[in-house]
Amino acid sequence: MRARRSCLAVPGSNPRFLEKAQGLAADEVFLDLEDSVAPDAKDEARRNVVAALGQGDWAGKTVVVRVNDLTTRWTYRDVIEVVEGAGDRLDCLMLPKVADASHVAWLDTLLGQIERATGLPEGGIGIEAQIEDARGLVNADDIAASSPRLETLVFGPADFMASIGMRTLVVGEQPPGYGEGDAYHYILMRILMAARAHGLQAIDGPYLQIRDLTGFRRVAMRSAALGFDGKWVLHPSQVEAANEVFSPSQEDYDHAELILDAYEYYTTVEKRGAVMLGDEMIDEASRKMALVVAAKGRVAGL
Ligand code: GLV
Ligand code: MG
Repeated sequence: MRARRSCLAVPGSNPRFLEKAQGLAADEVFLDLEDSVAPDAKDEARRNVVAALGQGDWAGKTVVVRVNDLTTRWTYRDVIEVVEGAGDRLDCLMLPKVADASHVAWLDTLLGQIERATGLPEGGIGIEAQIEDARGLVNADDIAASSPRLETLVFGPADFMASIGMRTLVVGEQPPGYGEGDAYHYILMRILMAARAHGLQAIDGPYLQIRDLTGFRRVAMRSAALGFDGKWVLHPSQVEAANEVFSPSQEDYDHAELILDAYEYYTTVEKRGAVMLGDEMIDEASRKMALVVAAKGRVAGL
């Protein structure tokens, strides 16, 4: 699994940002051709993105390009120009506003044709699918199963809130009047279940109040606590916060390694299945939970 604690959005129309992104500590960068690029700047953004992929230094990062959604006139050209121009530098394409499995199937087929035509390894380019409306959410299971190229489901809160008519203008914050609960719980859980049922990562979307790091952390903690693997970041200041929030604490990581060591000893040397570790009873299921924390800790370099 690739690291995706922080997924940095970089508008393809801005060469300065394309340059700057290379020096930031984001796990993933996605060069955007969709909603951060004005309609009249789409062609130029494509050229910028191909040049930045070819000439930039993206070492150590998951490299993704977000193409336009299938209802636009740009998508086929986005895919063809980016993959023909710089497919060897690309880890994944991100497809926004995926409403059903046929959207992903279309991209899978087109990618296969370009790979065959250009001699790129077949199946080498992965897909990230954004779930951004009610249709996408109700079809999340089919979408998650739609292609072996799929690596992640990505929540798109801004488009999603608009699509369901949620009564707030602040992306990711609770709609006024909702009360004590979390209006996003069902949506996040639904995406997470579909992703995990098919072995995919689950990524939370953007938080647009970029000067409010406290708010960013609060919203990021919500999806991190459920099990999401990472979150979009729109500004350098959010990168470090996301990397931290989506990594286990040193204390939890050390505890997970202790559980793994202790369990290994008791099951193999003493041949016991359920044992006491301090005040805590551990068994095979505890080992699985510890494995998750240990794996996330290793991604974080703990
Ligand atoms: C991201 O694409 C969003 O709509 O929130
Ligand atoms: Mg969107």
